Amino acid sequence: MIIETLSVFPEMFTTPMNTSILGIARRKGILEFHAHDLREWTHDRHRTTDDQPYGGGQGLLMKCDPVFEALDELESPKHNPIPAKTIFFTPSGEPFSQALATELAQESRLIFVCGRYEGFDERVYTRADRCISLGDYVLTGGELAAMVVSDAICRLLPGVLGDEASPYEESFSEGLLEFPQYTRPAVCRGLEVPAILLSGDHGKVDAWRRMEAIRKTALLRPDLLETADLTPEEKTFANGVCNGTAD
Ligand code: ADE
Repeated sequence: MIIETLSVFPEMFTTPMNTSILGIARRKGILEFHAHDLREWTHDRHRTTDDQPYGGGQGLLMKCDPVFEALDELESPKHNPIPAKTIFFTPSGEPFSQALATELAQESRLIFVCGRYEGFDERVYTRADRCISLGDYVLTGGELAAMVVSDAICRLLPGVLGDEASPYEESFSEGLLEFPQYTRPAVCRGLEVPAILLSGDHGKVDAWRRMEAIRKTALLRPDLLETADLTPEEKTFANGVCNGTAD
């Protein structure tokens, strides 16, 4: 997987993209990452990438030309023959989700375009394969969104995490929150680990985890239950949790 970012603050990516799992994925060659400086595609002395909006109004907009020129180059086979999907980060994009991370993890090359200021001149979106929003709030720029999306994609790439991570993926792809987890000691400040987890009975542990994932989802994110893949018995249990009648 190749991820390239286009931004006026490429240095923001240095530590997050070199640390922990992302850093390991890069060193293993599973992830290739390049942060491009949008100012390299400007031609004036001040390397201007923003300007005032037509029609008036507060703030500055990212100009079309540097973005168009940068994408002409980055999308060209001369730069890289691997076809790329170009993604813009904006609060008006489609909401990011685990399903979208899974979809993007199938791509070979992604170009992430990160805005600053009050956003982009609308014409740049003619170059977007997709626009993604991290959520219903406004960030100071798209860089943090690009890092979050890179992280969520990278951990799905084969060879990045060990096999032990797959049950978690399964659980999330079924639209539920993760079941509660515990590690040693078995008793900490009087708080006990549920006995079933110490029983060594894997069948019972799996069944308990499934029901606890449903319980947690019903308590914390009941909206997710509408699309979760549940059996009729599980639905009854989830409704009981929501109504306060389940034990
Ligand atoms: N840029 C500014 N706010 C954003 C958001 N919520 N998601 C993605 N990009 C953004």
